Amino acid sequence: MKFAERYSALKPSPMLKLFMAAAADTDVAHLEIGEPDFTTELDIIDEAARAAKDGYTHYGPIQGYADVRQAVCDYWDRRYGLKSTPDEVQMMAGGVQSVHLALQALLDPGDEVITAEPCFAPYFDQIYQHQGKAVHLATTEEDGFVPTAEALEKVITPRSKVLMICSPSNPTGRVMTRGQMEAIASVAEKYDLTVLSDEIYDSLVYKGEHIPFAALPGMKERTLTMGGLSKSHCMTGWRIGYAIGPTPLIRTMTLLGANQTYGVNVPTQRAALYALNTQDDKMAERAEIFFSRLSYVSDRLNAMPGICCAKPEGAFYLFPDIRGTGKTSEEFAWGLLEEGHVATLPGSAFGACGQGYIRIACTQSMETLEKAMDRTENYVRTLKK
Ligand SMILES: Cc1ncc(COP(=O)(O)O)c(C=O)c1O
Repeated sequence: MKFAERYSALKPSPMLKLFMAAAADTDVAHLEIGEPDFTTELDIIDEAARAAKDGYTHYGPIQGYADVRQAVCDYWDRRYGLKSTPDEVQMMAGGVQSVHLALQALLDPGDEVITAEPCFAPYFDQIYQHQGKAVHLATTEEDGFVPTAEALEKVITPRSKVLMICSPSNPTGRVMTRGQMEAIASVAEKYDLTVLSDEIYDSLVYKGEHIPFAALPGMKERTLTMGGLSKSHCMTGWRIGYAIGPTPLIRTMTLLGANQTYGVNVPTQRAALYALNTQDDKMAERAEIFFSRLSYVSDRLNAMPGICCAKPEGAFYLFPDIRGTGKTSEEFAWGLLEEGHVATLPGSAFGACGQGYIRIACTQSMETLEKAMDRTENYVRTLKK
């Protein structure tokens, strides 16, 4: 069998390699997993079962049910004041599908997509798969891992078409301020960039507030807001997300999606309708739990020699600076896994500027986090600078 030439060099990403090694170790503390440890609330599960029993077992509308799309609009209006209508929403098989369809709709071969890094690593392959060219925009911790207008402007070329941003961020856990977003918005407007704003961690903000990028003046018409229920409603396995954007873009993405998945799982959509309308208190409860876990872990890390960790801002990630230990990201993460039996991810897996950092996901119980921090402390003390 002959595979496509362009995928002949395809190999597991650094992230996947570490996931596989961690899965093979039965005594590992899993701080590499980017999904909530909580299972989906039972009332949401019941709603899906009820829908299926009521006959929601056939193909659904390709764009998603109108009432489910309305629930997405209501959620973003109620929580963040973002106004939209159901024709500006498409239901997706997870946030990952939003990126695929958006890039497919927007890119001609060779078009440039600026990735504000460190960023969610799958973006790189997704851009490649849609024949775009990733333009790696490095950020620094001093700037909160958010691109400045000057840095952004420097990488713009006549082929620049799309800018990808993410707040709260995976992997850094940082939350953009309004001022930082406004600086990016002014460049997006000046150079006519379409902004893919990944806001899948919207419900997990501990510092400041979540501001949808599309809610900034003049940004709605050039922004695709990508959200989903994986993180906010602990529904990773259900594969349900959505995109909110200008109607012509959503229309094109819907036509492309028809040839790809022909819509989204129907009982899941009905469960999402219920979940989007009823779970604000539960989301707030879980955010408190994640915040106390993140605070505990960042305090423990800051007490370790050579490690410096910012206070939690959002999502369930920390991105500590480990340069003081004298190790690279890869050496540290693999050493901690093999010698300390704690799985984390090297910051460099999220873009070259993540070198010197590791990503820690606080998606495990406090008991596991305590054990993991004891092990990490022991490991760090064995390192010679
Ligand atoms: C930043 C970011 N975007 C998108 C996704 C994809 O989420 P899903 O496809 O489960 O909705 C993830 C998952 O980890 C993520 O961290």
